[in-house]
Amino acid sequence: MPAFTSGHCNVVVLLSGTGSNLQALIDSIAQAAPAYPARIRAVISNRADALGLQKARDAGIATAVLDHKAYVDREAFDQALAECIDNFGADLVVLAGFMRILSVTFVRHYEGRLLNIHPSLLPLYKGLHTHQRALEAGDREHGCSVHFVTEELDGGPLVVQAAIPIQADDDAQRLAARVHAREHQIYPLAVRWFAEGRLSLGAQGAILDGQYLGASGHLIRT
Ligand code: GRF
Repeated sequence: MPAFTSGHCNVVVLLSGTGSNLQALIDSIAQAAPAYPARIRAVISNRADALGLQKARDAGIATAVLDHKAYVDREAFDQALAECIDNFGADLVVLAGFMRILSVTFVRHYEGRLLNIHPSLLPLYKGLHTHQRALEAGDREHGCSVHFVTEELDGGPLVVQAAIPIQADDDAQRLAARVHAREHQIYPLAVRWFAEGRLSLGAQGAILDGQYLGASGHLIRT
């Protein structure tokens, strides 16, 4: 177990939207408390109307809003965001639908303690509209990925992936719903690994329990 200053891993979640992944994390921590070695210290959004903020308030979690439009450029916003995160004493920063491209300075500042979830089996389908793209490609499976964030958008070392079969009658909406359900399983799992000191970022990728994970990370196939 790493020596987190507060005795447990302080997590700060960044989001711009619904916050269903935040809710999954809240629920998984609540279910396992007090044994779970992580606490969500704060939820920060660039959008005051993000539904995820209400989910945080309902769970008694501190919130903050930083409107990116109020800053002269990306660097200025990211600097203010980092100050806000650091003031909450974050050990781990969890991107959960945070719809902002992060500057190199920001990403480097949080190297090894910045996780993202993406709705595809990376390295397939970086960027948006992943479900539609998987269908159009005629793929037989699809899924989601948790990865450490590096300077390459959706390109950092993979931690865990969940793969599901694509059904013949799937449309993007149905597929998205099933992928989302998997996201809610693998993101809390990855956060827990980190909080337990089992997961870290090494020079050659993500390390779990002292072993480098392969190119797909830890793969869960259903
Ligand atoms: C998820 O699909 C996640 O993969 C992507 O953003 C979405 C966030 O969904 N990065 P929610 O706000 O957690 O429901």
